[in-house]
Amino acid sequence: MSFLRDVIHAGGTGGLSWHVHAHRSRTRWQPTLHLIDQFLAAIAPPSDHLLLIGGSAGWMMPHSWLSRFKRIDAYDIDPLAPWLFDWRHGRRLVAQGTTVHHHRQDALQTLPDLLAQHPHACIWFDNVLGQHRFRTPGETRVERELAELKTTLKGRHWGSLHDVWSGPTDGRLLPAGLNVWSHHVPAKRGAEAAFSQKLLASVGAQDVWHDHLTTQVFAAETQTTWLPWAFKPNYWHWLQAGWINA
Ligand SMILES: C[S@@+](CC[C@H](N)C(=O)[O-])C[C@H]1O[C@@H](n2cnc3c(N)ncnc32)[C@H](O)[C@@H]1O
Repeated sequence: MSFLRDVIHAGGTGGLSWHVHAHRSRTRWQPTLHLIDQFLAAIAPPSDHLLLIGGSAGWMMPHSWLSRFKRIDAYDIDPLAPWLFDWRHGRRLVAQGTTVHHHRQDALQTLPDLLAQHPHACIWFDNVLGQHRFRTPGETRVERELAELKTTLKGRHWGSLHDVWSGPTDGRLLPAGLNVWSHHVPAKRGAEAAFSQKLLASVGAQDVWHDHLTTQVFAAETQTTWLPWAFKPNYWHWLQAGWINA
């Protein structure tokens, strides 16, 4: 039963509905992919082994980033993820000498074991932490578990791209002015009302926006990049990305 549920929607975080939507939205998502590519290109991962958490089919994952690793262990709860990831990236990765090992596993619940099994690997949370709230009851618990990750990951090279807020917009195609496309600020700015208001206004936010409870994933001084994502024409997300070298 859980297998079937995860095929269809992976607890509201992925599955068939995600893949169909991602496939249809490729053109609209392209500017965000470009910003993700720029962010990842600036990282020099100190290990050639990556634990990729929530990579799905890698719809928003630049191939150039994946091919920097010799070995990737990809963890996702979605049974379709291995097949679609290999379809999208597999052949080129094999040709470039990268091996991918897929695991159908809740990587957040089993994170300490994964870290112990792979003591030298880097870890990348690939737009998954913002979905923790859809699979876990209680906002306080979700926020606490996400904030505790940085303690669990102490001493490791790791990073994350995740949703911070999402909600309806006025349907604009591009935010007004290139300067609003991305922001490079310490993580603590995410908690400032003036900063969030500026970001929301720049994408034409309307009505009520959801908080994905991720503002404490990174320590206050961690340098982060904020990226807008036109998830649907009238429904956008603000994503935050950061990387920590141990
Ligand atoms: C928004 S999608 C990420 C998409 C991916 N970054 C891409 O480029 O296509 C979130 C993914 O995280 C997976 N996921 C959610 N919670 C998870 C968990 N606890 N452990 C492993 N995977 C999880 C979902 O199945 C889904 O594939």
